[in-house]
Amino acid sequence: MGPILFSMPGNEAFTGLLATHLQCETGGIEVRRFPDGESYIRLRTLVVGRKVVFVCTLDRPDEKIAALYLATSVTRELGAASIGLVAPYLAYMRQDARFQEGEGVTSAHFARLISGLCDWLVTVDPHLHRHHDLTEIYSIPTRVVHAAPLIAQWITQTIGRPVVVGPDSESAQWVAEVADAAGCLHTVLEKTRRGDRDVEVSIPKTDDWQGMTPVLVDDIVSTARTMAAAAAHLNAAGFSHPVCISVHPLFADDAYAVLQRAGVDIVASCNTVAHFTNQIDISEPVALAMSEFVCG
Ligand code: R5P
Repeated sequence: MGPILFSMPGNEAFTGLLATHLQCETGGIEVRRFPDGESYIRLRTLVVGRKVVFVCTLDRPDEKIAALYLATSVTRELGAASIGLVAPYLAYMRQDARFQEGEGVTSAHFARLISGLCDWLVTVDPHLHRHHDLTEIYSIPTRVVHAAPLIAQWITQTIGRPVVVGPDSESAQWVAEVADAAGCLHTVLEKTRRGDRDVEVSIPKTDDWQGMTPVLVDDIVSTARTMAAAAAHLNAAGFSHPVCISVHPLFADDAYAVLQRAGVDIVASCNTVAHFTNQIDISEPVALAMSEFVCG
């Protein structure tokens, strides 16, 4: 018997795409809050002896984690053969060091929590910086899908004469991969972050960019201050319409308005987090990565 995919709230569209690629069943699950704020979970599809997959992207993780913990625990209690988690966006990965006294490496604590819920994990471009591999903090099998090939395809199909720009050194890894696949130039800026919403980036050398469209590519857009600072510098250097692409469109609070004010016309993102800027569908390679765990 094939696997059952359960969508946690908000993941229905992506779960539907995965089920189509894998030609498998989606299960019924009721997730709601009791009046006192506790979570209620009920599986409406039998899971005994079945391979079960929860699809739950982990932006705004603190709002989601109790329900995910209970849903996976109930599934285990009801006799599923295995439980996998597809989390296209994996939270807490940026807390990969003790930056100030009294802090902790919360990415590792979050990884221990997730590793206790499920038997395997598939995610998309987790923010690997000081951790070089998910195996450093996750104790379950993990598979990472890279968005770069699909981002490069979108760029070549959409933007004439692009130059790919990474807003900081952490973006160098995917910016080089995207530019290589798109067959265009790339550069990486230097970023100084002084606070959650206070970011400065260096001015790029743009002499040989005449007639080109800068395409800013970053893994995460959260407050959008990083992208906005980079876009403002590009505007000042005479490039009036930079394009912004993110793998994970978190868009906290006024982030989209901030990008618009910075003179960005086109914002595109992968559908790792549902957002109206989603233009790059990452579900096919995610389904392929899952098939190793659920098929056969
Ligand atoms: C961190 O280095 C990430 O790659 C992103 O650059 C960062 O998370 C973006 O954050 P924000 O949108 O808040 O500037």
